[in-house]
Amino acid sequence: MTTANVKNTAAIEVDETYVAHNYHPLPVVVAEAAGAWVTDLDGKRYLDCLAGYSALNFGHGHPELLATAHGQLDRVTLTSRAFHNAELGPFCEALATLAGKDMVLPMNTGAEAVETAIKVSRKWAYDVKGVPADQANIVVGQGNFHGRTTTIVGFSDDPGARDGFGPFTPGFRSVPYGDLAALDAAIDENTAAVLMEPIQGEGGVIVPPEGFLREVRELTTRRRVLFVADEIQSGLGRTGTTFACDLEEVVPDIYILGKALGGGIVPVSAIVANHDVLDVIHPGNHGSTFGGNPLAAAVGHAVVDLLATGEYQQRAARLGQRLDEGLRALIGQGVLAVRARGLWAGVDVDPALMSGRELCERLAARGVLAKETHGSTVRLAPPLVIEEGDLDWMLEQIGAVITGRTD
Ligand SMILES: Cc1ncc(COP(=O)(O)O)c(C=O)c1O
Repeated sequence: MTTANVKNTAAIEVDETYVAHNYHPLPVVVAEAAGAWVTDLDGKRYLDCLAGYSALNFGHGHPELLATAHGQLDRVTLTSRAFHNAELGPFCEALATLAGKDMVLPMNTGAEAVETAIKVSRKWAYDVKGVPADQANIVVGQGNFHGRTTTIVGFSDDPGARDGFGPFTPGFRSVPYGDLAALDAAIDENTAAVLMEPIQGEGGVIVPPEGFLREVRELTTRRRVLFVADEIQSGLGRTGTTFACDLEEVVPDIYILGKALGGGIVPVSAIVANHDVLDVIHPGNHGSTFGGNPLAAAVGHAVVDLLATGEYQQRAARLGQRLDEGLRALIGQGVLAVRARGLWAGVDVDPALMSGRELCERLAARGVLAKETHGSTVRLAPPLVIEEGDLDWMLEQIGAVITGRTD
């Protein structure tokens, strides 16, 4: 142990003893953060290139989001939905407007919003489409990640997420992601919805074939099936557009949102849809004690106001090009493939060179925080507020680690 690392080491020991081992964090103990940078307990600074799995699209401590949260903390934070609160309606109006939809059903975490979309899709199938009771099915993409509830992990194909947690909820069919013919074949008269990430985040920033989202939209409309886009990680500016679906000018029936909607301050998630879909939900069908609370609604509204300017989407698109070019330059020098959309990239490192975990450990030693997804794939998702110079510096560090430079 170096004396420089004394506080971090002690804090990690406490974590290891008292925190359940459901994660395998890098040995970095964040104590403070601002913008794209975090500082550990011993004062070392790191560039945050994970951004809370895209929950921190606007960076740490965005001044407008913090000011909104501080103001709301002093007014009212929680009411439950037994009463109206002054923040929820305006937040939902702003979010529905941003998404071009009629209304919003607010929740807290991403998995809850996915569960909400599943319930709404099933209810729509029974009440509107006329599917016989308890016969509805939902088609999902292989390699998906939609959260951690027992229903959701039941249609995951990641053994770590799934094994040991059965029995699982029936009614889901999994088809190869990006395979339109397989999707078409899986849909029948009882299909309520196709639930997919427009880009698979945890899967390794997997981008479907060009035109796939448009074809899914056309197919689901033709077969009278809801298209439910899980934009929890891909949405809200990350890809250089408000939603990843915008990259193909596609509008799903339901957007599922989370992560960045809470501005990195509070958990805020939601589904956004039109009346013909969301009107199937009536009092007593669904809810959450914390969903739509005034603090969450105020922060979520401030997030939507930031996105309504278009500034963050443009920044992500512009800096994203730099990210893409910088990473592509490493192909053939230890990088096998790069998939980038906006400020979001999946980098496949040659497994003969190092694992994704090893790359992340070496980057952390150089002051860059990133996270592997699977095997030797690393996901990069810096806050959209990252400075251009910092992005270049991050690319230099990645280059140095991959090519083995020791400068
Ligand atoms: C696409 C997608 N859906 C759902 C979730 C689950 O969100 P949460 O962890 O807030 O439950 C995640 C989290 O990584 C995600 O990336």
